[in-house]
Amino acid sequence: MSDNGKMHVARTTDDQGLSAPALIPARFALHDQPGIVEALTFDDILLVPGYSEVLPAEVDVSVVLHPRLRLRVPVVSAAMDTVTEAPLAIALARQGGLGVIHRNLTPEQQAEEVDRVKRSESGMIVNPITLTPDRPLAAAAALMSHYHISGVPIVESQEGGRLLGVLSNRDIRFATDFARPISDYMTSENLITAPIGTTLEEAKVILHRHRIEKLPLVDEQFRLKGLITYKDILKREDFPQAATDAQGRLLVAGAIGVGDAALQRAERLAAAGADALAIDTAHGHSRGVLETVAAVKQRWPEMVVLAGNVVTAEGTLALIEAGADVIKVGVGAGSICTTRVVAGAGVPQISAISECAAAAAARGIPVIADGGIRYSGDMVKALAVGATAVMLGGLLAGLEESPGELITWEGRRFKEYRGMGSVGALKGRGADRYQSGQRGSDASPDIGGKLVPEGIEGQVPYKGRLADYLSQLVGGLRSGLGYVGAASLAELRAKARFVRITNAGYIESHPHTIMITKEAPNYQAQPR
Ligand code: XMP
Repeated sequence: MSDNGKMHVARTTDDQGLSAPALIPARFALHDQPGIVEALTFDDILLVPGYSEVLPAEVDVSVVLHPRLRLRVPVVSAAMDTVTEAPLAIALARQGGLGVIHRNLTPEQQAEEVDRVKRSESGMIVNPITLTPDRPLAAAAALMSHYHISGVPIVESQEGGRLLGVLSNRDIRFATDFARPISDYMTSENLITAPIGTTLEEAKVILHRHRIEKLPLVDEQFRLKGLITYKDILKREDFPQAATDAQGRLLVAGAIGVGDAALQRAERLAAAGADALAIDTAHGHSRGVLETVAAVKQRWPEMVVLAGNVVTAEGTLALIEAGADVIKVGVGAGSICTTRVVAGAGVPQISAISECAAAAAARGIPVIADGGIRYSGDMVKALAVGATAVMLGGLLAGLEESPGELITWEGRRFKEYRGMGSVGALKGRGADRYQSGQRGSDASPDIGGKLVPEGIEGQVPYKGRLADYLSQLVGGLRSGLGYVGAASLAELRAKARFVRITNAGYIESHPHTIMITKEAPNYQAQPR
């Protein structure tokens, strides 16, 4: 199927000129090798530096996973319960990446996480949170604290209707009786509003002029149709790189499993505004997954579907055939995975990416390299062999915004990181994935119904805020493009030349013959 070493000419997924895959050579693919195939991973290869006029600071690292998923940095966070909930998804989308909210939550909780990302900042909030004037002030206070918002439009009925007033922090600052109705406190006279279609620039002027924080947008019948807030305008200026939807809201995806339960979960996530659904399974080349992809696409033809995980051209093509828009590649590569030792199955990641990316590119479909990335250099290699983006678990665990408490141990700070197929993860909502007996989970029941985990639990060093850490990763990526002489990721794929290295070459690549006394922000010697 894939002809080793030959170029696959692909349709591009990019309508509008960004860097979707066009030509992907199947350099390390599995096919056409006689007998038992040899497969390689990150540490087996290096990129060969080439003539360069490219300054790392000037390279373009934006990618198009789908016309509605345009990322400024090719980084997607793993759908894991120690990695991606709303705070990390918000922080990552602000820097131009995409978070996938994990599914070890009830569908309601997961949809709420999606909702928090979509509401966190936007050009215009199309569906603002509202209250009716008869509700007690306590309800408004609770809502405002939950969503971290400073004011709520007050409308005729929960279904919408005319705008009656605005309740802001200022209005309730000196309130003592929170059982009293909102109508006693809200501002309802001389309301400043603007018509639908008001631009952010115009809104900024109005907000300034009237020294107010929130501008409700209304139609001719004075029905509330949107809200522009000063905070959101400022945030947009603070995060010019943000990955956003057509309405200026941050992008976010939600993970689902397989079967009917997954479709019900998908329903909630779609209603909450998820930009994509990730059909998040350990073995994507399986009937349950293919049927779920097809069912999701049938029910929501417009929804962007990321599906996986696969490691072969056949698996990739089967998912594309079922309707997947983006393919996720990786079985057993993750830093917390034990699939390859427990089940004896998997494919080293460079070969898997190369094989799947070449097959997918021939259909104009991008792939995400998921798992096994420990350094920014691994990102460069994954993107050079054909991935359009990378999915990071371990590297994005341990951040300020990752879920979980800080643990201090022997004077150093850590956060928990665990596989979604680990015993701990499977005890939570993972138990239902496990009981489904689907290959959607990273664990399978043995004959007696006991859990056979395919992941472990551990701790990773605390790494501070996502923005600072990601800038190190993206800085390394930019540097890689500089060495290859590539001004964009598409050029990286086209120009990359590789060498296969020996164990001696690998040892030479890492710091050696020295005792490290000060760790660099982008290098930590890892237990292997
Ligand atoms: P990294 O290397 O970035 O990998 O930490 C994250 C990816 O690992 C996958 N994953 C698992 N694989 N057992 C597995 O075999 C598990 O328990 C497990 N949990 C997560 C997943 O693809 C994730 O994005």
